[in-house]
Amino acid sequence: MEEREVTFIVKRFYRNEWREDRYEFKAVRGMTVLDGLFHIRDNIDPSLSFRASCRMGICGSCGMVINGKAMLACSTQIFDLGTDVVRIEPLRNMEALKDLISDFDDFFEKHRRVKPYLIRKEEKSIEEGEYIQTPDELRKYRQYSLCIKCGLCYDACSITGSNKEYLGPAALASACRFIMDSRDQGEDERIPLVSDHTGCWRCHFMAECSEVCPKEVDPADAIQKLKRKALIYSLKRLFRR
Ligand code: SF4
Ligand code: SF4
Ligand code: FES
Repeated sequence: MEEREVTFIVKRFYRNEWREDRYEFKAVRGMTVLDGLFHIRDNIDPSLSFRASCRMGICGSCGMVINGKAMLACSTQIFDLGTDVVRIEPLRNMEALKDLISDFDDFFEKHRRVKPYLIRKEEKSIEEGEYIQTPDELRKYRQYSLCIKCGLCYDACSITGSNKEYLGPAALASACRFIMDSRDQGEDERIPLVSDHTGCWRCHFMAECSEVCPKEVDPADAIQKLKRKALIYSLKRLFRR
């Protein structure tokens, strides 16, 4: 099996101090960056901290910056990086808690703010059955529902980096997911939340968020749809007066 000597340079944070540690080890073809981090923790330095769970690109836990780009460590093979020196740091638009573990509180608080659940004005009783949806209606938002909340888009977005109030690509894509859902009746509650000074109009549509998204959610596209919805919503209100 092909193997190569590689060096991981890990930017670490502990007790308010940053430092970089270098680890050298033999990587074999097929090994992911996450496998490399486990190898370091199990064999070289048990104090190295990082998050991971599913190891298959589903849970969204292992987002980090690898050679300058936000990526899932479990979906990134070391040999595919095209270099034997791998620089790793925690996601940049979040506070670091320890080493590669970032604080997602602000990220999830922004999700909560857009009300990421179906809002109904009239609820059906159990006897009346479920809310039926056609395949075409599902297709309108399905892509936006694939988000695994990994935070990679949050790292890539320059507006998120410079404006802490901005809801950010993931929360806005989530808002779009519910606004486009034929079963949702929450337009009056949700559109004002996503179209104020913290919302969709802040986005400059450079689409860095969509470029790094591992699930092809395309938050940049979702945000442009939100802008259209917000515009139609405010015109409707204007003519209603
Ligand atoms: S398209 Fe919008 S949300 Fe995406 S990275 Fe650019 S500014 Fe951020
Ligand atoms: S939109 Fe994509 S990059 Fe952003 S949190 Fe969801 S899955 Fe991750
Ligand atoms: S460990 Fe779950 S996405 Fe990487």
